[in-house]
Amino acid sequence: MSESWIGSDLPPIWRGGEEYFLLRHAGQFYLVANRCPHRGGPLKFGFINADGELVCPMHRGAFAIPRLIAQPDTIRLEEQTT
Ligand code: FES
Repeated sequence: MSESWIGSDLPPIWRGGEEYFLLRHAGQFYLVANRCPHRGGPLKFGFINADGELVCPMHRGAFAIPRLIAQPDTIRLEEQTT
């Protein structure tokens, strides 16, 4: 598996009226808003390019994964051990 992975085939994940998608990066899982920073395209249906950026399907904008993870509405998922 590459360093980053998009949960494109998973059912929609809704939280607070916003759709999120599951993103794995550097061994961590995140819920990221399914809304491109450019014009709101569905990032979930993009792909990871050779530079490790997420490419939006709408206008092919490429976004560094750390930038997407740093968005204030991104949720980092914690592993539960109990
Ligand atoms: S909406 Fe994503 S690149 Fe334009």
